[in-house]
Amino acid sequence: MMRSGYDDDLRLAHVIADQVDSLTMSRFKALDLAVETKPDTTPVSDADRSAEQMIRSQLSRTRPRDAVHGEEMGDTGHGPRQWVVDPIDGTKNFVRGVPVWATLIALLDAGEPVLGVVSAPALGRRWWAAKGSGAWTGRSLSSATRLHVSGVGRLADASLSYSSLSGWEERGRLEHFLRLTRSVWRTRAYGDFWSHVMVAEGSVDLSCEPELALHDMAALVPIVTEAGGRFTSVQGEPGPYGGSALVSNGKLHDAALQILDPLLED
Ligand code: IPD
Ligand code: CA
Ligand code: CA
Repeated sequence: MMRSGYDDDLRLAHVIADQVDSLTMSRFKALDLAVETKPDTTPVSDADRSAEQMIRSQLSRTRPRDAVHGEEMGDTGHGPRQWVVDPIDGTKNFVRGVPVWATLIALLDAGEPVLGVVSAPALGRRWWAAKGSGAWTGRSLSSATRLHVSGVGRLADASLSYSSLSGWEERGRLEHFLRLTRSVWRTRAYGDFWSHVMVAEGSVDLSCEPELALHDMAALVPIVTEAGGRFTSVQGEPGPYGGSALVSNGKLHDAALQILDPLLED
């Protein structure tokens, strides 16, 4: 395993992910799972809230000086180091018993995503990266395989994953997105975090989402970039702050941006 300045943080994120996996798996498909609708009309379950609570209490014990930003609870702390948490990415899958959901844990240092762990226990998969030490998948830090993006260089040969057509339609971007789907070899909506980690492991070549928040993206950025890929918004802004995601193996990025970003149109 390659070393980085964030090795201790990465070890901690794995320990936390192990604990959260036990909690979320105990609530997955539970007959008494309580599901509510949030003000933004999206669902949240008792598992989302307890998972975030568990991550926050571990961080406040082990990293008391760090700030925390999570999807379901208010921000805490100040300073350059901020943990960013999506306790369950793919809640709509979780509440229907579909195994494509994950806990996303990221660390930002002065705003830069330097560590990401994506743990998907119902798929039996975990992906992680820290700045300068590569992107990996496996059961644990000591039993891992390095991730590399694909070498596909032409859109006509590319596999594209996304979440839904309705997201693009609601934002008036469906035509642009459909144009991209027509220019690639294959599309499949693996959905949520899965689309993007599949780019990191080279199983797909491109993924995109028209609207995402910081907590949806922060953990994915180091995993994609350390695997050799590129992570921007659909307007080409690098990193997790552009409100949307275009993820690629690097080679296909400019060609996909050209199709998705209306400002780049002739
Ligand atoms: C959702 C996922 C999904 C995206 C939605 C998000 P959640 O997160 O990230 O891919 O299309 O906009 O809300 O609510 O399941 O954590
Ligand atoms: Ca999410
Ligand atoms: Ca979530």
